[in-house]
Amino acid sequence: MKIGIFDSGIGGLNILANMLVYYPNNSYIYYADNLNMPYGNKTYCLLKGAITTAMDYFKLNGVDVVIIACNTASTLFGEYVKNNYPFRVYLVTPNISKAITYDKFVLLATDNTTKQIQKNIEQIAMENNISSKQLNSKMQIVPSSLLAYLTEYNAPNFYINYRYIRDILKGLKKDYPIILGCTHYTYYKMYIASLGYELITETDYFERFNGLKMPKPNSFDNLSFVFTGKQNTQRYLKIINQIL
Ligand code: DGL
Repeated sequence: MKIGIFDSGIGGLNILANMLVYYPNNSYIYYADNLNMPYGNKTYCLLKGAITTAMDYFKLNGVDVVIIACNTASTLFGEYVKNNYPFRVYLVTPNISKAITYDKFVLLATDNTTKQIQKNIEQIAMENNISSKQLNSKMQIVPSSLLAYLTEYNAPNFYINYRYIRDILKGLKKDYPIILGCTHYTYYKMYIASLGYELITETDYFERFNGLKMPKPNSFDNLSFVFTGKQNTQRYLKIINQIL
């Protein structure tokens, strides 16, 4: 099978790395729209154009499945892509269904994601069998587009951003879990947990493999990259190797 993975940058590499290990017989195209990153503060029109260009590319290249490994793109355009393209689509979105089982939770995501979630609040609440008023009172929103940018910029030296993360989290109670609603923040899972916060990450499609030893691939012959901006193949491969 041919699989396309999309993100504005390095955020989707965690998902790609898992796919390479657990489904090594597929071929992969990793599409990074690094020209337009960060997505968090771009206009709806610009992002729609960028997503259309990426999805058209996947269609032209005959992919069977696309994973939109970007919460911002999935939240804003997931339904649009599902309804307009021939391939199967998997979306990565903030895991609100899991979060509502708590009294309160924090949603850490880009500005565009948080705005879209507020816009769709009625529908999201309905899907989760609660009222929008209840959902609003449970959810504390912390928009943090800059963190995605800094993550891309400083990668793979993620520790450079630890101080900024502590600033973002300052004042947040440790009693409530935090949804990491941006794939770029996945790199801070361990760090944020070490500060004493509980985390809710995206739906874990690889959960069923837990406990199995991950065989590290010897080569990446089945992987190609598309960059809309700076060609970053070596840096991205370095990050994949770090994840594996
Ligand atoms: N990684 C993307 C997300 O999950 C967005 C990062 C960005 O470009 O702002 O939302």
